[in-house]
Amino acid sequence: PSAVIVAIDGPSGTGKSSTSKAVAAKLGLRYLDTGAQYRAITWWMITNGVDTDDPQAIAVAAGKPALVSGTDPAAPTITVDGLDASGPIRTQEVTSKVSAVSAVPEVRTLITELQRSIAAEAAREAEGIVVEGRDIGTTVLPDADLKIFLTASAEARAARRSGELRGKEATDLAATKEALIKRDAADSGRKTSPLAKAGDAVEVDTTELTLDQVIECVVTLVEERR
Ligand code: C5P
Repeated sequence: PSAVIVAIDGPSGTGKSSTSKAVAAKLGLRYLDTGAQYRAITWWMITNGVDTDDPQAIAVAAGKPALVSGTDPAAPTITVDGLDASGPIRTQEVTSKVSAVSAVPEVRTLITELQRSIAAEAAREAEGIVVEGRDIGTTVLPDADLKIFLTASAEARAARRSGELRGKEATDLAATKEALIKRDAADSGRKTSPLAKAGDAVEVDTTELTLDQVIECVVTLVEERR
């Protein structure tokens, strides 16, 4: 049987990462977190003094950092110029700036090429890959074997996200919800490959589902197409 390529898209707080990792682990597939790549390039811009409010400065710097993604779903990694960026990419500062950086077309072109080469390698050398993000089904991998679009109510998404943040950084539900809605609006409203459901994607509303139920649903869909 040939390798299987799975694209999982959707806004923040829908359980995309947890679902994607678990599905990849269960089915013996590789896993790519494309949000981590946009976060890593954003982190590099911040630490190297690039003005993240200046799209031209971002475009000029876009090719400088070398990103490497580790695709083991049990322990995904991201390095920037050889440095482990897994921790720093999750700070509120990076989260608040990533939408502006990821909207710059030069950034998207470079990262999209990287994503396609990682997916092609997984198709050649492994059983396949689960790639999660915002534009995977629409732009990065339009020929994916299965496309999933995860949704959930804004309340459910904010509650999940503040649960993840608890203990890491002080946060309250209302502020989390507001930041999340703002980021999704920016991601959906940008010109270059916005967050969108592909015409041939299967939409799964996770509002009333447990994580295990979502995982099971996606595993079944992958198995049907393998
Ligand atoms: O998934 P995560 O919340 O880590 O993504 C962080 C940000 O990276 C998103 O808000 C979006 O701006 C950007 N992103 C993107 N395209 C993707 C994945 C993430 O623009 N495929």
